[in-house]
Amino acid sequence: MNFIETDTCVLREEIENLKKTRNAVMLAHVYQRPSVQHVADFVGDSLDLSREASRTSADVIIFCGVRFMAETASILNPDKTVLLPQSAAGCQMAEMATAQQVRRRKEQLPADTAVVSYVNSTAEVKAESYICCTSANAVEVVNSVPQEHVLFVPDRNLASHVAANTEKRIIPWDGHCYVHDPNISPDSIRELMRLHPHARVMAHPECNEAVRRLAHFVGSTSQMLEFASESDSEEFIVGTEEGLLHPLQDQNPRKRFYATGSVCSSMRLTTLASVRRALDQMVEVVKTPEHIRERAAVALSRMLEV
Ligand code: 13P
Ligand code: SF4
Repeated sequence: MNFIETDTCVLREEIENLKKTRNAVMLAHVYQRPSVQHVADFVGDSLDLSREASRTSADVIIFCGVRFMAETASILNPDKTVLLPQSAAGCQMAEMATAQQVRRRKEQLPADTAVVSYVNSTAEVKAESYICCTSANAVEVVNSVPQEHVLFVPDRNLASHVAANTEKRIIPWDGHCYVHDPNISPDSIRELMRLHPHARVMAHPECNEAVRRLAHFVGSTSQMLEFASESDSEEFIVGTEEGLLHPLQDQNPRKRFYATGSVCSSMRLTTLASVRRALDQMVEVVKTPEHIRERAAVALSRMLEV
């Protein structure tokens, strides 16, 4: 065993002890570093993690992901302490819509318009929304709203994916995730298809339409994991953030996965050392002001009921 491995073992042990002392549950998104995923009590996509956060009995939730994910956990659990080990871990797409912009846009739209916000949004935007969704349930959520028109905030690509699969009139916001669009491009996928002609192509709905058209399967990260496990194919091109390769390879050791190398810099900020520090010092607490939390909780609870 080398020094780096020894360090990791020590950190892992310290984190396990701190989790017990604090009665903490550690949640990690599938884009997190493998070392972080290994120590987590639960690894999943945004929807899995929201569900897990809504039913935990722990006193402390340490959220290894980005700010909107920790914020969601804190909105659903006002009496628990939610920690985001790296306070700078934001989501660039979530910052592309403000509550004020959403209110102004809604005023210009027909009266029967519902605001549906992707969970990759700020707490303030959630508070302006009728209901939230994730990439795993966006179509079902949109179909569940009573209104005919839907202002879909903030991802234009998920909005166009939903529009292609619903009768509702979708009005897209012009936000996007740089990791999926433009960093995963049709050319980068075509090149992987040329190198691996037998591979099935999977794409996240945050990819643009040209990339989604090349895909055999479009779905959230957890849906891609399910598709890869159930498919007879042995090779897959993965149109999402590179972190997903870890659980894909872990759950399917005989299959091969190829990604374009697109990385979310915020997701990489969390390390075992930052997890240990946050739990040890109980720092990097995420808390939403009560007047926003109450309204955002309604939109999130509606989603969890769908
Ligand atoms: P999932 O909802 O598939 O976990 O994706 C979250 C995300 O941030 C994608 O960029
Ligand atoms: Fe946000 Fe994109 Fe990173 Fe997901 S991958 S957290 S949408 S910046």
